[in-house]
Amino acid sequence: MRVLVTGGAGFIGSNFVHLTLATRPEVEITVLDAMTYAGSRASLAGVEDRAEIVRGDITDADLVDRLVSQCDLVVHFAAESHNDNSLSEPWPFVHTNVVGTYTLLEAVRRHGRRLHHISTDEVYGDLELDDPARFTEATPYNPSSPYSSTKGASDLLVRAWVRSFRVDATISNCSNNYGPRQHVEKFIPRQITNVLDGVRPKLYGDGLNVRDWIHVDDHNRAVWTIIDKGEIGETYLIGADGEVDNRTVVHDILELMGQGADDYDHVTDRAGHDRRYAIDSSRLRTELGWSPEYPSFREGLAATIAWYRQHEDWWRPMKDATERKYALTQSVLSR
Ligand code: NAD
Ligand code: TYD
Repeated sequence: MRVLVTGGAGFIGSNFVHLTLATRPEVEITVLDAMTYAGSRASLAGVEDRAEIVRGDITDADLVDRLVSQCDLVVHFAAESHNDNSLSEPWPFVHTNVVGTYTLLEAVRRHGRRLHHISTDEVYGDLELDDPARFTEATPYNPSSPYSSTKGASDLLVRAWVRSFRVDATISNCSNNYGPRQHVEKFIPRQITNVLDGVRPKLYGDGLNVRDWIHVDDHNRAVWTIIDKGEIGETYLIGADGEVDNRTVVHDILELMGQGADDYDHVTDRAGHDRRYAIDSSRLRTELGWSPEYPSFREGLAATIAWYRQHEDWWRPMKDATERKYALTQSVLSR
């Protein structure tokens, strides 16, 4: 079985490649990745004998057509993925997330291939902190940012291609991932590498925003569950009941790294900052029998800290440029 993994040099995609090659001997992989600032060949070290790595853009219709024709299944991770970047420069998000998904859908339609589309819970907008509700597959789309709106648009394209052209596709919307090989622009790796550099973690606004954390391997095991057992045309929400507010995450990181729990700064808040995300993953658990394997967020976090301690060669090349970019828009409000 040949699987085309778009965005396979990014955070979740590269972990998907490693997990797949370790657990599925029948699978061969082609990675299609543009190697933007977020993609890294170093994330695919050690897989070269069973994975072909193609540097290219998912909006390149000829290249996409050829690679789709040569595979049995497409797992589509490629995206512009960072909310803060989408606020400063939205166009790459429209280009990759919308036009790129359209380009893939047309190729999948022409060649009759199976597609699994990876998306986010952010398409549902946000919840109040005291709202007992969580997102379900029936929650209406209400995205806030250029990132989440372009992901919502890509989901709607997939649904339309299923209905109008009978494309064999499934969709998953997952909550916030953490784990190895995540770019240091994202919340958890930014704070871990700040502490390793002797810099205080940076919390946006009051720090009470809540995210529903899941380890990247649990996300990717759920993706395989949906590919194996999911119903064509359906959407599945993926989440591990991991709601934690940002201040607690920073406390945990500081504590696990031997620092004072209050040694962080409050910085300029993100425009339109979503307050809370929370996933009800009952459908995936009851209909398809998936459940997360990581025992707790704190254990997963400790393992992630250990990975960044041991892999400075992986994150060091991206750290300074990331912090220079943040320095243009963020200043310390209080300590
Ligand atoms: P990432 O930014 O780490 O990786 C994205 C990858 O896509 C990079 O390797 C990049 O080079 C590649 N890419 C970007 N534009 C491309 C293009 N035009 N053509 C080909 N490749 C291109 O992102 P991630 O965190 O691994 O997210 C992967 C997917 O999972 C995305 O679709 C994202 O929306 C979704 N998702 C992410 C999270 C999360 O917490 N990170 C949660 C739920 C869903
Ligand atoms: P992020 O990792 O950017 O993911 P998302 O925006 O997709 O949820 O941010 C997670 C949360 O952490 C979000 O509430 C914003 C906040 N945050 C900080 O407080 N400080 C930071 O330096 C970053 C990057 C994010």
